[in-house]
Amino acid sequence: MQKIILDTDIGDDIDDALALTFAIMSGEIELLGVTTVFKNAAQRAELACCVLETLGRPDIPVYAGIGKTLLQSIPDWERVAANHHPRQMDILKKQQPSIKPQPERAVDFIIETIMAGDGDITLVPIGPLTNIAVAFITEPHLAEKAKICMMGGTTDRVQPEWNALCDPEATRVVFGTGVPITMVGLDVTTKCVMTCDQVKTIGAVNRPINQICFDLIHLWGGDNPEPRPTLHDPLAVAMMIDSTFCQQREMRIEVETRADHLRGATVPVRGEPNTSVCVDVDAERFMSYFVKTLTS
Ligand code: BDR
Ligand code: CA
Repeated sequence: MQKIILDTDIGDDIDDALALTFAIMSGEIELLGVTTVFKNAAQRAELACCVLETLGRPDIPVYAGIGKTLLQSIPDWERVAANHHPRQMDILKKQQPSIKPQPERAVDFIIETIMAGDGDITLVPIGPLTNIAVAFITEPHLAEKAKICMMGGTTDRVQPEWNALCDPEATRVVFGTGVPITMVGLDVTTKCVMTCDQVKTIGAVNRPINQICFDLIHLWGGDNPEPRPTLHDPLAVAMMIDSTFCQQREMRIEVETRADHLRGATVPVRGEPNTSVCVDVDAERFMSYFVKTLTS
C-alpha cells in the first residue's frame, strides 16, 4: 500500500473530488491525510470532509492549508471566480459531515508526517503548489524524505498548466528542491476523457458516492446532457497504484516566473534531470480501472 498525503483544491474543477473518491475506493492507497490549498482553503477542507463522510472514512484527517499564493499574485481573479462551481457545495453537502477539519495547519501536518516516516510517503498535489513549497521552505530536510507525484505542468504546449500557473513561484520552489518528482501533466491527462457510457456506468450504481460523482460530472459539463470529464487529478492518484499506466521520461524541468504570458510554464531544458515526466498514457486501461474502482 502506498502511503500518500493528498493536497487538493477541491471545490473548483470536480476532478479533485473524483481523485479523492478514487484513492479511497481503490483500497490500494493508505491516505494519511488530506490538505487543502488555494483561495478559500477552509471551505475546501469542509468539502473534503463531506466526501470522506460519504465514503465512510471520517478517520482520515483533513487540514486547511494556505489560501494565498507565495507572492499573492493570483492571476486574473475574475477568471478564477468564473471557474468556481458554487453548486458543488450543494452536491457535496448533501452528506453533512460529522467530522470537521483539524485545527492544526496543513503545512505542519505535512512536515511532521513526512519527517516521522521512513521516506515512504508521497505527496500527491492536485492543486497549486503553495502548501508544498512552504513545507519545503520551512523544513529543508523534507526533500531527503519526501517524494512527489503531482498533477500539474505540461511540456507539449506553450500555455502553462492551471495548477502551475496559479502559483508560479511555488511551482519553481518545488522543482528546485531536488525532491524526486513524477509530473503527471496535461501531456497525458488530456488524453483521459471518459466516454458517455463510462459516466452512465458510474451513475448507475445506487450508492450515495456514485450519485455525488455523477452529479458533479454533470455540473462540470454545464448544459451538456452527456458530459465527458477529463480525469486530470485521478491520473496522478492512479500513478501511485500502478506506475505503468504512464510512460515516463527523465527530464530537467525549469519553471518560468518572469515572462508575463509564460508564468508557470514547466520548461524542459538541458541538464541533470530533476523530474520523471509522464509523456504517454494507456488511457483506455486507466479509465477502465477507474470506472471499475468506482462501481465495484
Ligand atoms: C488541473 O486544474 C484543475 O482545475 C484540475 O482540478 C486539475 O488539477 C488541470 O490543469
Ligand atoms: Ca485540482
